[in-house]
Amino acid sequence: MKSIWTAETKIRNRESLPGDIDTEALVIGGGLAGILTAYYLKQAGIDTVVLEADRIGSGQTKNTTAKITSQHGLIYDRLLRTLGSKKAEQYARANENAIDEYEKLIREKEIDCDFVRCPACLYSREEETLLKREAEAAAKLGIKASFEQTDGGLPFYVTGITKFEDQARFHPLKFLERIAEELTVYERTTVLKVESGRAKTDRGNVTARQIVFAAHFPFMNIPGYYFARMYQERSCVIALEGADIPESMYLGIDKNGLSFRPHGEKLLLGGGSHRTGVNKKGGQYEYLLKQARILYPGCKETAHWSAQDCMTPDRIPYIGRFSNRYTDWYVATGFGKWGMTSAMVSARILTALITGRECPEAAVFSPARHLTVQAAGQLVCHGAHTVKGLAGHLLPAGDAGIIPNCPHMGCRLKYNPDEESFDCPCHGSRFDKEGRLLDGPAQTDCRKK
Ligand code: FES
Repeated sequence: MKSIWTAETKIRNRESLPGDIDTEALVIGGGLAGILTAYYLKQAGIDTVVLEADRIGSGQTKNTTAKITSQHGLIYDRLLRTLGSKKAEQYARANENAIDEYEKLIREKEIDCDFVRCPACLYSREEETLLKREAEAAAKLGIKASFEQTDGGLPFYVTGITKFEDQARFHPLKFLERIAEELTVYERTTVLKVESGRAKTDRGNVTARQIVFAAHFPFMNIPGYYFARMYQERSCVIALEGADIPESMYLGIDKNGLSFRPHGEKLLLGGGSHRTGVNKKGGQYEYLLKQARILYPGCKETAHWSAQDCMTPDRIPYIGRFSNRYTDWYVATGFGKWGMTSAMVSARILTALITGRECPEAAVFSPARHLTVQAAGQLVCHGAHTVKGLAGHLLPAGDAGIIPNCPHMGCRLKYNPDEESFDCPCHGSRFDKEGRLLDGPAQTDCRKK
């Protein structure tokens, strides 16, 4: 089923790369991060081209819940403890600035994209201390945050909420389409390989002084080794009619906590988060629907869809130089569940780096940063999943029409009954029932039997 964003927006077709070209900057990926980066580079006077393998916004931008917020689950208390106040502040400021930047851009250009300022709240049904600590940490870092002992309008008992004021929501595809109008974008052009300052595509070569990898999960394994320091998670959303519409956006911090996000007369209810490739039993949409019927008797589901997110071990995106080997390559990935805000953060940071402007916030997002002990532990856990997935490729292939080994690095794919897809538990590539590629980092379809 299509997301409501896709169903409500018509995005015009763009031509494919007409042949070999030269440009100052090349952005690979026509999602929000790529389009915004190209936009700000162009504003800075840099000739920029965007290449998109499919259509703009056809990746994760269309599957988001489109919350623009500096509230990223329980994060600020942890950042303060593990990174110290300077870096925690950089993270908070970059995300708060991103919200303001969206508003500025939308007002300046009079973009009709349902932008609304509203609070974002964390809630719990059993825990109060963590909510209070998070509110205190965020407030210390300059965010308008507080703990309130109220249900905040949710249809069940909660111990309280951690409320961030002045956050926002919008329609991601209406915004994207308008911003992309000012850019040179080639669609249906797949980048096959990048070597130094040249990208080889299925339509011709692009020579560029600066290259930005903004296509969700970097498809180049070496350098960068992002496959070894990131995995992917999936989560589901259902759109409901006939539910009570809250004014704020909410996210539960308990296990199986739900996400609530108003959109006009509809409520977007999210949950069912799981590592890609680990959903053998399925039932994530059924679970959400069951919860919806308990909370809002008589409500009706009008759409459902799912999103795929790149997760880093310390839950901070990788934004900055791709690797030490190529100083003119840049990357924006690992946005976790916070793709809209992180897209703006990365666009601002990458533009600053490319144009040589000061950007103190860049340090905390640098892909070359050292990991905390806690994050290193997550990395070991990710490695264990990969080893298990790789070992699985020796098992009998089953009766699917494809060889269910991932073309990325060979892990055994797992069937996902919710999406009727074959998903890779190692780094999150996905394929449809015919073995056609749905999500990278793999670049090719599965082999047929
Ligand atoms: Fe890396 Fe499948 S995505 S092995």
